[in-house]
Amino acid sequence: MRQILKRILVFALFIFIAIQFYQPAFNTDKGEAVTKDFTKVYKMPADVKTLFQNSCYDCHSNNTNYAWYDYIQPARILVEDHIKNAKNDLNFSEWDTYSNRKQERLLNSIKEQIVNRKMPLSSYTVMHRKAKLNDDEIKTIADWLNAQNKVYE
Ligand code: HEC
Repeated sequence: MRQILKRILVFALFIFIAIQFYQPAFNTDKGEAVTKDFTKVYKMPADVKTLFQNSCYDCHSNNTNYAWYDYIQPARILVEDHIKNAKNDLNFSEWDTYSNRKQERLLNSIKEQIVNRKMPLSSYTVMHRKAKLNDDEIKTIADWLNAQNKVYE
């Protein structure tokens, strides 16, 4: 019995080491395309900008600040998959390439997601405490979004 257990453990360790070699491309464009960025397209106070960048940009932009454990598989695959999905829906780095209609829809969607506390994802804020938005911060963002006059109160 102990022999079998030992073999299973060795096998699991082998798999763990083997998958470390699979490292997909990192989501960092080193500051390219900044002029298309959401925070450049709109005039926004520094605190609003910081809130978006701290709470949303790891998933919804071309620049992710990776944590040390993001380099370890299987976290790496999961994180990259999340980023891909998130950017598919909304990429703040590409904001200026979106049509007016899409921007308008997204501004409303952003407000809805934040006010209903669906974003940033709780699976993410568990590990990234600073990204979590408190009531005041949610209000700051919502007020700013309302002032963009494309957002319905
Ligand atoms: C941990 C990654 C992560 C973070 C951080 C995050 N999101 Fe998301 N977001 C996603 C994913 C993944 C989706 C795709 C939908 C889904 O699978 O839930 C999504 C979807 C969305 C959508 C829906 C887009 C649409 O088409 O309507 C909006 C809006 C959004 N996020 C806004 C935000 C905002 C604003 C923040 C910051 C306050 C944020 N997200 C932070 C991962 C994230």
